[in-house]
Amino acid sequence: MNLPEDKNAYNALVNELKAHNYAYYVLSQPSISDYDFDQLLKKCEAIEKLHPEWVQPDSPTQVVGGEVTKNFEQVKHTYPMMSLGNTYSADELREFDQRVRKAIGDDFTYVCELKFDGLAISISYENGKMIRAVTRGDGVQGDDVTANVKTIRSIPQQLHGNYPASFDIRGEIFMHKKTFERLNNTLKKELLEQGVDEDKIAERLYKNPRNFASGSLKMQDSKEVAKRSLDAFLYFVYTKENICETHAESLKLAESWGFKVSDHYQECASLEDVLAFIQKYDTERHHLSYEIDGVVIKVNQYKHQEDLGFTAKIPKWAISYKYKAESALTQLLSVSYQVGRTGAITPVANLKPVQLAGTTVKRASLYNADELARLDLHDMDWVYVEKGGEIIPKITSINTEKRDLFAKKIQYIQACPECGTELLRKEGEAIHYCPNDSHCKPQLIGRLEHFVSRKAMNIDGLGVGIIELLFERKFVRYFSDFYKLHLVREKLIGLTKLFEVENEYEYKYENEIYIHYQRVLYLFKIAKKVDEIKHLKSESELNDYISKFEEPKKQREFNFIKEKIDGTFFKISDILSFMLKKFGYPLEINFNHLIKNILCVNDLIEKVNVLIDEEKSYSENEKILLKNFFDKHNTDILKLTNLKKIVLQEKAVNNIIEGINNSKNCNLGQFIYALGIKNLGLVGANLI
Ligand code: IVH
Repeated sequence: MNLPEDKNAYNALVNELKAHNYAYYVLSQPSISDYDFDQLLKKCEAIEKLHPEWVQPDSPTQVVGGEVTKNFEQVKHTYPMMSLGNTYSADELREFDQRVRKAIGDDFTYVCELKFDGLAISISYENGKMIRAVTRGDGVQGDDVTANVKTIRSIPQQLHGNYPASFDIRGEIFMHKKTFERLNNTLKKELLEQGVDEDKIAERLYKNPRNFASGSLKMQDSKEVAKRSLDAFLYFVYTKENICETHAESLKLAESWGFKVSDHYQECASLEDVLAFIQKYDTERHHLSYEIDGVVIKVNQYKHQEDLGFTAKIPKWAISYKYKAESALTQLLSVSYQVGRTGAITPVANLKPVQLAGTTVKRASLYNADELARLDLHDMDWVYVEKGGEIIPKITSINTEKRDLFAKKIQYIQACPECGTELLRKEGEAIHYCPNDSHCKPQLIGRLEHFVSRKAMNIDGLGVGIIELLFERKFVRYFSDFYKLHLVREKLIGLTKLFEVENEYEYKYENEIYIHYQRVLYLFKIAKKVDEIKHLKSESELNDYISKFEEPKKQREFNFIKEKIDGTFFKISDILSFMLKKFGYPLEINFNHLIKNILCVNDLIEKVNVLIDEEKSYSENEKILLKNFFDKHNTDILKLTNLKKIVLQEKAVNNIIEGINNSKNCNLGQFIYALGIKNLGLVGANLI
């Protein structure tokens, strides 16, 4: 690496890195590839190692944190952090608008902004440098979390442009939905690997991005905070001297100093415009990468803000409109019971798919027998599901008026759904257990999975599907069987398994499979004959496209698309019939019997051929054509369903055997932990 010898070149490099950071984190328009950025950063680190006396405190190498603070110092806010009055109704907004007009007349505008669902932060800057970042606390004083806030790359530590010498800026720190899912999944894996009981895991995970962001900001070690990839939008500037006339101008100015300001704000001349903004984001919010819980409406002109003033708690020139937690009504299809590695049983409600807050909900957690009893759930009940920021929706209530007169009450199971053993419930505990730890399949497989996991024996190449395959084909049942696999190496090569994967684009109801329109679209794309619709991205675009056909023939061709089941789901048997025609097979076939059996097959083609042969309603000629169709489009059909195919190739088998061999060198603590003893985590195992 060529390192510059003079300080100016180092400073220039720091500035260049800061500019790239700004482009990436604030403008969301990367000006350099990740790789190139990392190279520059490494160069910068190397120079700083050679010349520690040159290091700029806000150098991009320094912002990843590392300071360990014991307790957060309490700091008084220069400007108290007030909350906002809020409402859920348009009528109350009208009243707010009336009050404002009565006080200041009609010559003003509003600014509508999104109400970001995160944590409020107040940051002080002196001469362009971040001095202090304080949480809201009780509004008068809060925690000094400067070290942690410095790890948030979208909050500048050094400003540029024409900023005031001294000011405070307020904003919201949040976590993107995708980051939340990723980090929560990692946390779940870690907890499982540490041997935390499955029924305790849900309690230890974060419920929503807001929670996670808040937990992160309060961490003692800012190095850990840096790993949480927090983000922030800034939305209010406090200065001693006036720097502009309106709030909207202040947002533009803040942006020019290097702050990340959301693009989703709008100056509104009337209440009607405000209501239109609210309505627009009621649907658009589901497409945002972060969560919002409403809209904040602020009088734009500072002079009017001053005239309106404050009550004891809230400004009279602003209000927030909150979106209601969304709920949807749907029908219970069944209750299934999952069995974990430790035998813990979790009941789950399988629901008729319904759209809720931008996603399709097909399941809701029922937690345990007490919850089931509390809800008084009956067969095929109509239930309200709600997603209050949590990832897994829950059933909040039941519409008993829609209940069938003869519907039976759902009874919690007495026996394990997998092995039939009578369930146990320890006194004082909410969870039921299957005690059959030596023969119950999900427990056995769960333990094998735990045994090979990273913190245990750390054996590569043995994913969930492969362990199931080895178990089902009777190659592995006990831990010791892994160490005999090399003796049957030849037999392992070529082993095949089809298995079901979780897939929100599909659901099953009364032996039928339904798939989502997006998959239908995909099907058309693979059918290639309908090239014209390749570019269509959404259901409404597809509908528009179909409605444009004037020819009855073409209309008919797409007719089944319009006969939608549950809004966006299509029966897969209809799709197979359509596909058959599209691929030029002159058949009118009822696929229902095939579909009923398709999911229990292990080798699709072999079994489908048998099923076709068995079907009396098909003629010999039809059978040949059908077999040909399945043979040719096997892969496409697999892609349509949630079936995945694993074939153990020679290389994979070699990898597995090598991984197993290497695991013999693990340390004793790892080995004890791998045995999966209840309540014994990695730390305890190492101590033993
Ligand atoms: S302005 C005096 N703007 O909502 C004005 N607040 O319920 C202060 N919030 O504590 C707040 N997005 O944490 C404002 N665009 C936005 C906001 C916003 C979220 C939060 C903020 C505040 C709370 C009030």
